[in-house]
Amino acid sequence: MLGDFTYCNPTRLHFGKNAMSALTEELAKYGQTVQLIYGGGSIKRNGIYDQVIAALEAAGKTVVEDAGVMPNPTADKLREGVKIARERNVDFLLAVGGGSCADYAKAVSVSMNCDDDPWEKYFARFEEPTCEIIPVGVVLTMAGTGSEMNGGSVITNHEQNLKIGHVFSTDVAPKFAIMNPEFTYSLPKYQMVAGIFDIMNHITEQYFSGTDDNTSDYIMEGLMRGLVKASRAAVANPEDYEARSNIMWTAAWALNTFVGCGKAQDWEVHMLGQAVSAVTDATHGMTLAAVALPYYRYIMDAGLPKFARFAQNVWGIDAAGKADEQLAAAGLDAMEAWMREIGCVMNLAELGCDESMLETLADATFVMEGGYRKLTREEIIAIFRESL
Ligand code: NZQ
Ligand code: ZN
Repeated sequence: MLGDFTYCNPTRLHFGKNAMSALTEELAKYGQTVQLIYGGGSIKRNGIYDQVIAALEAAGKTVVEDAGVMPNPTADKLREGVKIARERNVDFLLAVGGGSCADYAKAVSVSMNCDDDPWEKYFARFEEPTCEIIPVGVVLTMAGTGSEMNGGSVITNHEQNLKIGHVFSTDVAPKFAIMNPEFTYSLPKYQMVAGIFDIMNHITEQYFSGTDDNTSDYIMEGLMRGLVKASRAAVANPEDYEARSNIMWTAAWALNTFVGCGKAQDWEVHMLGQAVSAVTDATHGMTLAAVALPYYRYIMDAGLPKFARFAQNVWGIDAAGKADEQLAAAGLDAMEAWMREIGCVMNLAELGCDESMLETLADATFVMEGGYRKLTREEIIAIFRESL
């Protein structure tokens, strides 16, 4: 049975080749001083920075630069960003980049006007904002996280071996997102594929839960089929606009919280992957790719009908003459073949992990309860070992 839910998504999307033309008008709705948040410089090389600056100038804004947001943004960098926001009394936060810049902007947005340490308040103690929230806008340059259309923010504390996500309310979600699929053409293949697997895993985290007949599951099956097709086309030709636009659009749907409506949801693959990033700083999507198959093969028996359905409805496997066990296994084999084909990282050794790190990884892993199995510490270690 579809569970009860309330759904609202306040992010205004401007999608397509001309999406950037909406930026000046969007900026005009907000205050004078804009903190311009970006990463390690890709936007300067691909020309997006110049377009953003032109839009800021056309809107007559005062720009405060905040560069160097790293993938897996850290608590220390967040403290720096909050300091800049407070010192310059900014009115608006414009993130230009992928999930890391968007997540960081949201974390600054809930912290500028409060005295607490942002890591302690939101990521260690999971408190809700008690101060004025500064509005955020996003110019998206990488498809994957869905951060452009949700209230989530994930921050990493390497000293404590913790990477923690806080799902804030819709008040913290970006006010708008500029989504031009052409902006993703310059992504290195590794990042493109990491983003694609991140999208797939956002969907499976929500799909592999419950035993009911739920409309959200049918929507997700369509999204997964489309993603598989588009991913193959994008790997073959990174400048295939149709494929890149379908990937970008699927990423937003996969985690704008819509397909999770009425579902229990799992998210254990993300907890395992976040532990890996906390300890090694590896790329988010690839950490998920390294642990997903061992995890799903481990829990498959507990959710057999859904895994069998996944095989048929996502991978087109013929059910004739097959028991659910065979179908379920064949579905995961098909996902594995696709992951290898597009270039996912298939094990943790490639991300710098070895046997000596298993206990540390387990210490960094949160246990979720919404999926088909609640893992024990021994099971978590066994799954990490299987992923090496
Ligand atoms: O820093 P620059 O130089 O910009 O380079 C970035 C970065 O190195 C590069 N890049 C981005 N767009 C590019 C580009 N390079 C060339 N051309 C472009 N157009 O790609 C690298 C990765 O960027 P990043 O923003 O880190 O990737 P992603 O979008 O995957 O974000 C990852 C972060 O988001 C969190 C992850 O945990 C991770 O910290 N997540 C956020 C979620 C949310 N808010 O809902 C959910 C996700 O599950 C995820 O946890
Ligand atoms: Zn993710």
